Amino acid sequence: MGIVLGIESSCDETAVALVTTDRRIVAQRIASQDAEHAPYGGVVPEIAARAHVEKLAPMITQVMDDAGMQLADLDAIAATAGPGLIGGVMVGLVSAKALAMASDVPLIAINHLEGHALSPRLADPELAFPYALLLVSGGHCQILLVEGVGEYRRLATTIDDALGEAFDKTAKILGLGYPGGPAVERLSELGDPDAVPLPRPLVGSGEPHFSFAGLKSAVLRAKESGKHKDADIAASFQQAAVDCLLDRLAVALGAIAAPPALVVAGGVAANQSVRAALENFAAQRHMRFVAPPLALCTDNAAMIAWAGAERLASGQSDPLDIAARPRWPLDPAAEPVRGAGHKA
Ligand code: KG4
Ligand code: ZN
Repeated sequence: MGIVLGIESSCDETAVALVTTDRRIVAQRIASQDAEHAPYGGVVPEIAARAHVEKLAPMITQVMDDAGMQLADLDAIAATAGPGLIGGVMVGLVSAKALAMASDVPLIAINHLEGHALSPRLADPELAFPYALLLVSGGHCQILLVEGVGEYRRLATTIDDALGEAFDKTAKILGLGYPGGPAVERLSELGDPDAVPLPRPLVGSGEPHFSFAGLKSAVLRAKESGKHKDADIAASFQQAAVDCLLDRLAVALGAIAAPPALVVAGGVAANQSVRAALENFAAQRHMRFVAPPLALCTDNAAMIAWAGAERLASGQSDPLDIAARPRWPLDPAAEPVRGAGHKA
């Protein structure tokens, strides 16, 4: 058995975790920056980078203390090396390099998306390759076929906004605060999902990609028209989002031999309407539906440590001069999609 320290700092969560190769989370800490970014209605890169600088070093000490371990006890140090907000990524990666150098422990540079892609296997030892992964968060909106460690096929991505971003923008339009997803979900419960006619962008298209910018603009127009109740706008938006997800998934999975399991990850996986719709979708296709505990599917460091553990098991590590990457597609063979570059 080995033990891996994981560091995550690519967006607005500073997180540190210790995970064993036999799937035990020995210790973990996570510090959200929601309060710092809330006044701006979204993540401000410069504020995020500064917050990581302040929070990360003491958190690493705390996690090692929580576990009663020394650096020399580690088998690897894994850190997110991209994609993400580059200032934050550099803070985490440079810290990992310094620790690796000081303690002579191997460094493993992790693609943040690989962390999301493999995290369901940390929670569920039964989950074997291959599986389909719907990754829906504030920064990502992708459908991936996870075939093995380091073997990812991107089946779909967004050509503009991520789904969580669309929830956050809808919340902003309705004056609900940040992060907006949970607030939109709560308000939706009071509304009629058929009350406001909203578009389902790209639904019916033969390519499985996502688009949410037009939906967001339609939400803005619905609000500005003054004709609708906020709860009806929220419920109609959420219904449109679910319809888009199911249609795009059907196209993506229709193009391949559908794998035995459908996994959902990312902050939007917290949404009960999204979950229920996916569960139903999977059942109809005789696929197992896996929704890992939410703490594992939103940004965290256990998933980075676990991806490190999976890589360690296959004998991999990285040189200390490896660079942080703002963009880092998980599937380099995937064709570029118009407008999707910044989402990797
Ligand atoms: O995975 P995550 O914590 O961080 C990113 O990598 O972005 O996801 C955060 C996103 C935010 O956009 C938030 O509004 C959304 O997930 N979210 C939700 C819900 N809870 C969080 N969206 C819809 N319904 C929810 N209940
Ligand atoms: Zn993420």
